[in-house]
Amino acid sequence: MTTFHDKLRQLDHRYLWHPFTQMQEWLGEDPVIISRGDGHYLIDDQGQKYLDGVSSLWCNVHGHRKKELDDAIKDQLDRIAHSTFLGLSHVPGIQLAQKLIEIAPIGLQRVFYSDSGATAVEIALKMAVQYWQLKGEEKRTQIASLAESYHGDTVGSMSVGYSETFHRFHKSLLFAVLRITPPHVFRYYRQMSEADALSAAIKEADEKLSANKNTVAAFIMEPLMQGAAGMWSQPVGYVRALREICRRNKILFILDEVATGFGRTGKMFACEHDGVTPDILCMAKGITGGYLPLAATLTSEEIFSAFLGDYKEFKTFFHGHTYTGNPLGCAVALANLAIFHRENVIENMQPRIAYLQKRLSQEFLALPHVSDVRQWGYMIGIELAQDRAGRKNYAPEKRTGRQVILAARQRGVMIRPLGDVVILMPPLSMAENELAILLDIVLDSILTVTGN
Ligand SMILES: Cc1ncc(COP(=O)(O)O)c(C=O)c1O
Repeated sequence: MTTFHDKLRQLDHRYLWHPFTQMQEWLGEDPVIISRGDGHYLIDDQGQKYLDGVSSLWCNVHGHRKKELDDAIKDQLDRIAHSTFLGLSHVPGIQLAQKLIEIAPIGLQRVFYSDSGATAVEIALKMAVQYWQLKGEEKRTQIASLAESYHGDTVGSMSVGYSETFHRFHKSLLFAVLRITPPHVFRYYRQMSEADALSAAIKEADEKLSANKNTVAAFIMEPLMQGAAGMWSQPVGYVRALREICRRNKILFILDEVATGFGRTGKMFACEHDGVTPDILCMAKGITGGYLPLAATLTSEEIFSAFLGDYKEFKTFFHGHTYTGNPLGCAVALANLAIFHRENVIENMQPRIAYLQKRLSQEFLALPHVSDVRQWGYMIGIELAQDRAGRKNYAPEKRTGRQVILAARQRGVMIRPLGDVVILMPPLSMAENELAILLDIVLDSILTVTGN
């Protein structure tokens, strides 16, 4: 008898093309088909429950089916689902902008909405380049970024976050970028101490950015944790140093907090660890509690005011998307921020972050095939290596990271690796008892796959 699951599998295999997925492999497998969520669990069409260990691609904040978030969308749906933000405004869009400015680092005063992390980044880059044209510094057109960063999959964001694995076929479409080496390259690959790696990275950034100070419009980075490129962490002090180098060289400083924003690193925004305000801040993912696609690019009044003028001067920022600032997204984002406040989310995370830290360093780092553990708050990368001391990776075709996540899945935990880096990004509301289950199962899965 053909079950409902069989039917769904056939239709999926017949019609779909999944992102970041080798479809030949997918077509040979029985897919997990999620049909419901409940708190920190995903439930598939056959009733199997999985602990959501990566917050449904790093965006879920308070768990699934959070009543206040569900209600906010239903309430807004009773008013209007969508109305354009081009030349019109709407109630939740205005209210959310005020709240975002209240929680953002001081100095950011304007909100420009879009609908994904990649568009938030594209907007930041376009804003920066246009700003300098409008200020009469026409040579400032270049962008600088960190090596081994990830900023999304549109053409501009691929250019600044270039990855050989992901983007090599599209190289011809990308613009040239001045690349800065981040601290982890000196620490992990060149085996320097953390302090020496930090100094070396700052020195290089200073030299490269100062040498190009008349042509670089903006520098963009993910603060504290370079996420999708492999969960590479930076020590406190790096973001602050880069901020100062940019200020000194009149280079706009853009922070991409798409992954690190909204509590992920243990503060509302990662740049708070360094006491830094960027000129432009990109946010998405957790902005709606992980419910709907909404993003925002925040900037200062100084940058905003450069775009003001008579229409005939054509200084307007000609950028927008059909669903820019979607009202349902704004309404759920407002409810998300209210929960942060009412439930003391960030305060409650602190002892749990310490719990994660303790177990990661005592139990995971002690494993013979774990070569590095990187953590900022609820953002964790566990690097697997064939030879820990020599930093020798497993052969890519062994797919060790994937084997670990399949072993975890069999044990009821849903995670997704980045190569051989096992990623843990639980919802911020996950308390110690469920974090313990997550860690126990992942530990067991790593041991099973890599041997002892
Ligand atoms: C730091 C960072 N920037 C941008 C993006 C792109 O976001 P989106 O997938 O919403 O386009 C991501 C996605 O993981 C990210 O981690």
